[in-house]
Amino acid sequence: MPTNDRRSFLKMTALAGAFSTNSLFRQAHAADWEAASRAVGHLDSGTIAQNEDYWSVIQRSYSVSTQIINLNNGGVSPSPIVVQQAVERYNQMTNEGPSYYMWQILDQGREPLRHKLANLAGTSAEEIAINRNSTEALNTIIYGLPLKAGDEVVGTKQDYPNMMNAYRQRAERDGIVYNQISFDFPIEDNDVIVKAYEQAITPRTKLVHITHMVNWTGQLMPVQQIADMAHAHGCEVIVDGAHSFGLLDFKIPDLHCDYFGTSLHKFLAAPIGSGMMWVKKDKIEKIWPLTCYGNPRSPDIRKFEALGTRSFPIEQGIGEAINFHEAIGSRRKQERVFYLKNYWAMRVKDVPGVKLHTSLDPRFSCAICGVSIEGVTSNQLMTTLFDRYKIHTVGIDYEKIHCIRVTPHVYTTTADLDKFVGAIGEIAASKKS
Ligand SMILES: Cc1ncc(COP(=O)(O)O)c(C=O)c1O
Repeated sequence: MPTNDRRSFLKMTALAGAFSTNSLFRQAHAADWEAASRAVGHLDSGTIAQNEDYWSVIQRSYSVSTQIINLNNGGVSPSPIVVQQAVERYNQMTNEGPSYYMWQILDQGREPLRHKLANLAGTSAEEIAINRNSTEALNTIIYGLPLKAGDEVVGTKQDYPNMMNAYRQRAERDGIVYNQISFDFPIEDNDVIVKAYEQAITPRTKLVHITHMVNWTGQLMPVQQIADMAHAHGCEVIVDGAHSFGLLDFKIPDLHCDYFGTSLHKFLAAPIGSGMMWVKKDKIEKIWPLTCYGNPRSPDIRKFEALGTRSFPIEQGIGEAINFHEAIGSRRKQERVFYLKNYWAMRVKDVPGVKLHTSLDPRFSCAICGVSIEGVTSNQLMTTLFDRYKIHTVGIDYEKIHCIRVTPHVYTTTADLDKFVGAIGEIAASKKS
């Protein structure tokens, strides 16, 4: 089959997956989405990224506020309506008899869900554990690795605080050595990043920690290159994929890492409080579970799921989010969100006093972009945007990074981004006058 035909065939197959199940997604969206997809089926994903008719169908599948413009989808994303409905349905069912409906009915859905997540991640289902967020996934690995006093870990000062604090706790408790390198982002040369990691590795380094998409300013890290280099030095590699999974078009094995954790309530738009952990099959046995398990040295990935009573409706709602995601497709989603980021960033980058803190090149960025205005603190900018324009962003003041972080999602309209661009222009002009 020629490459183009094969690609369309694969796209159609992925789409068929989302539509073929008797899901809420199918009931709500099959007709509209099939028609919208047919209308753009002959176009490549870069062109579809700019097709507002196609994306308007997706925008209508959300119930986001009309009172505010939410540009902090990097923090947590809203779920599409069908995902909310699934959670509500499972919640109502649960409350008709919790111990029966949770432990005998909804619990039956965990294994099919594991397979569905594994299919999306491109891994074996026997390597996927379902939990509540990236913090839980990555802390399980950080605390569970059999590291001993003097063993070294290399990370960066730009990693997420919950992971940095876990390493610090291990340093205090177990005497491991936590070495943090630091970057001045944006960087548009992957070799610079890989070299900085390599220089920090010593013969005692056992683990290298990489944040796939850096939360502060959205830098995309060259995970595969760093992982290959780290493995050549005999180190294992753990990846924080909080922002990358469900956004970037990749499969976990592409990263060449050993451990991966993510939050499904970010770009996958699954119910809030859902996460996933991936551990390479032959490494499962040696990781201690964070909570208890009858046989903690078991090679069964399910040993990480002894989390006690938790929300089964949230967990089962993940399935509808995967249906929703697959009906768009990872490549289309990545390109659209990148397009939206550059749509606003290109329009403000030359405004006097405005500074971008993120690359505009798709090799180094996607959804997240930092922006600041000379003479305005991050907090002032965030507050002014909300008070005057009802635009919600997040102010970042961390180490040398001072900006607001702006993150659109698939439901974000270009009209809303035009309002944001106008607001930045007005605030910058008021500082100049
Ligand atoms: C890079 C990164 N890792 C981990 C997390 C933690 O995510 P969660 O709060 O869902 O555990 C975040 C949260 O924003 C993040 O940005």
